[in-house]
Amino acid sequence: MHPVIAGRWSARSLDPAAEVTRAELLAVIEAARVAASWGGTFPVRFLAGLRGDTTHAALAALLTRGNLRWAPAAGALVLCAVATSNAKGDLPYAMFDAGLATAQLSLQAVAQGLIAHPMSGFDRAGARQAFDIPDSVEPVVLIALGHLAAERTNERDLEPRRRPALREVLFGEAWGQEF
Ligand SMILES: Cc1cc2nc3c(=O)[nH]c(=O)nc-3n(C[C@H](O)[C@H](O)[C@H](O)COP(=O)(O)O)c2cc1C
Repeated sequence: MHPVIAGRWSARSLDPAAEVTRAELLAVIEAARVAASWGGTFPVRFLAGLRGDTTHAALAALLTRGNLRWAPAAGALVLCAVATSNAKGDLPYAMFDAGLATAQLSLQAVAQGLIAHPMSGFDRAGARQAFDIPDSVEPVVLIALGHLAAERTNERDLEPRRRPALREVLFGEAWGQEF
């Protein structure tokens, strides 16, 4: 496996002193921008703040309890949102597009020595209100972008990684039949 893919994980022990630069943020968003998209519709958008600015503070205030413990330490907080319809109608693959874009963002982050941790645990209605997000756009995940701390201060970062075995995710001649 490519080391960038193997090196991606959703760490929670982020260094509260390390900064994410504007250039680093723009580079990961650029990686998301070039992701594949259903019908070339490109419905994914981001809204970001760097620690210390008002957007970061407003995004941090939307985090739900578990995430509130660790994610405010992220040098950048990035809201990923997606338009679920456009002038031609519904965009049935909007969430898929958001996932692809976020995956590319995450891998670019690893390549830059950063952690990108997606979170569903945030107040969507609050996000709409705080940032005037239109009804046709759905907030999807809040991404904590930051530097891994020298110490694993969050106990969940010490847990072994769990994944289904390859034979459980790849089938051959029939559904459930090993490839
Ligand atoms: C859509 C989505 C939402 C997630 N929401 C949260 C969250 O709110 N808080 C959190 O700590 N981790 C969250 N995660 C991270 C997952 O827990 C993590 O990806 C999973 O445990 C696998 O671990 P890994 O990313 O380190 O491989 C989320 C991941 C995804 C893809």
